[in-house]
Amino acid sequence: MTTPDTHRSWTTHAEREGAEQASIREVLLAAFPTSLEADLVEALRADPEAWLPDLSVVAVAEDGTVAGYSLLTRCHVGGVPALALGPCAVRPEHQSQGAGTAAIRAGLDAARQRGENLVVVLGHADYYPRFGFDRASRFGITATFEVPDENLMALALDPTAPVPRGPLRYAPAFGV
Ligand SMILES: CC(C)(COP(=O)(O)OP(=O)(O)OC[C@H]1O[C@@H](n2cnc3c(N)ncnc32)[C@H](O)[C@@H]1OP(=O)(O)O)[C@@H](O)C(=O)NCCC(=O)NCCS
Repeated sequence: MTTPDTHRSWTTHAEREGAEQASIREVLLAAFPTSLEADLVEALRADPEAWLPDLSVVAVAEDGTVAGYSLLTRCHVGGVPALALGPCAVRPEHQSQGAGTAAIRAGLDAARQRGENLVVVLGHADYYPRFGFDRASRFGITATFEVPDENLMALALDPTAPVPRGPLRYAPAFGV
């Protein structure tokens, strides 16, 4: 899928084994101050209960550079399976050119096509609402760790389906 943008267009696809996984690590190392997020993605990839291969999505530039990344993994809300979005990252030199939006939208579209519904994200309160995320507390979702209310957000992909409520439990690799 190619997403037009005011700056450039990005091609998105589910991660491919091999060199592309190394590129994803490079994107994460470039976008975050430490290797925490890069190591987290590798730990999640090794957890078959958390990892959903088609929901690990890259945004690729026209020259083939992996510029952006978005990940959805299995979590639970009130004991019901849901998805956790993150880490999301874009190489600094490609930020604010639509790569993050392209990767995240492609991941959410793939999740919707799988019949998934609830997605939660812990992140910037001024970035994720553009995808439809709202405060998780408004859904009756609670964190078992300290987090400002505005930073824990949730999105229901299927407005006709019931949305689980209750405590959020991330995959063990998140360590929360
Ligand atoms: C956050 C991130 C994934 C966004 O991807 P991106 O490709 O740069 O962003 P897009 O081009 O899709 O969207 C641009 C918009 O995002 C906003 N944005 C970018 N980084 C942001 C940040 N750290 N916090 C809030 N908003 C941010 C821009 O201001 C811009 O807003 P506008 O559309 O209102 O002008 C990327 O900037 C990044 O990797 N940042 C460093 C790592 C990080 O913070 N990851 C997210 C953890 S929650």
